[in-house]
Amino acid sequence: MNVLPQNTAWSVDEHQLAPNAGIEEKLRFALRYAVLAPSNHNTQPWHFIVDGDCVTLCADRMRALPVVDPFDRELIISCGAALFNLRVALSRFGLAYAITLFPSPADVDVLAHLRILRDGRCDASLTPLFDAMPRRVTTRETFADEPVPVELQLRFEEAGAAEGADIVCAGNAAIREHLATLIAEADQAQFKDPRFRRELASWIHPKRSRDGMPALSPGMRALLDLAVPLVGSVIRTFDLGGMAAAHHTLVTGSPLLLCIATGADDAAAWLAAGQALERVLLTAADEGITASYLNQPIEVAPLRDTLRAALNLDGVPQLLLRIGRGRQTPHSPRRPLAEAVS
Ligand SMILES: Cc1cc2nc3c(=O)[nH]c(=O)nc-3n(C[C@H](O)[C@H](O)[C@H](O)COP(=O)(O)O)c2cc1C
Repeated sequence: MNVLPQNTAWSVDEHQLAPNAGIEEKLRFALRYAVLAPSNHNTQPWHFIVDGDCVTLCADRMRALPVVDPFDRELIISCGAALFNLRVALSRFGLAYAITLFPSPADVDVLAHLRILRDGRCDASLTPLFDAMPRRVTTRETFADEPVPVELQLRFEEAGAAEGADIVCAGNAAIREHLATLIAEADQAQFKDPRFRRELASWIHPKRSRDGMPALSPGMRALLDLAVPLVGSVIRTFDLGGMAAAHHTLVTGSPLLLCIATGADDAAAWLAAGQALERVLLTAADEGITASYLNQPIEVAPLRDTLRAALNLDGVPQLLLRIGRGRQTPHSPRRPLAEAVS
């Protein structure tokens, strides 16, 4: 079993894979890329079980976020993103595969079973995304005032469709303004809840070094300041003004907002949304474009329908992103591989 010190996760290099590596060795190596996927609060809520030329993806519900994500919707989306990275890496290593989703109806934690096909054809459409995996990062800072090309927006839509999700791009200033108001309303609702603040603070805690969100960027430090002093305190009103203003500028100043929606709202749809998310993010990263998340109106249940109407969606919104060109910010940590793979 490979045990990676936490900070080396991002320096993974395909040349470390021996040219004569067997299938199981390639599978285990590909999992180094799977764990680079994004996850809510960087919880990394996945566990992979390797058995010869098969790998089973399980949800690790010990790493759930019961307040912000009570139904494990974002947890399963995160697992979908990791599954997509695994598919990209296997395709790069010349391995074809077959995937069975939810292979054990009696065990809802088993999300997918992947089997290497020795005589199959690998998915050539995924290999160009390989180099983008270690480059992708969530960027919570302002983006350059530069439009995202329409041609790239069409590629995002194709990326989503390939994974069974709808992508709706919104660059229009009036819609961004409307969404900024919705996000502010959702922020108010979330930060009013001391359980939300406690949960958030515990994942940006400075003592975390293998998961969670380091308070490196000004945006994260501001969130920590809002959450930490209030942990454990009784509910009281407090001023979200500074954060609301910052969020408003981030939203209205982003060249593009992008919503990922699905026809259904069940575990299969969430897994598809996660794969679509990572396919969009890698397509963007490959072009030097980055993203961050504005999921608040989806997480606050009563606002989800309002968002749906605002964007005129046929399906159910699963994720809301802001997209643009930003500077390369530091990566967040990853757990040692041995913790996520057995
Ligand atoms: C389903 C999902 C929901 C997320 N929601 C948020 C969010 O609401 N706010 C945010 O700042 N980041 C959000 N993120 C981004 C994660 O915090 C980020 O992926 C994680 O900290 C790891 O960092 P990285 O993406 O730079 O590797 C979300 C990611 C996923 C996959």
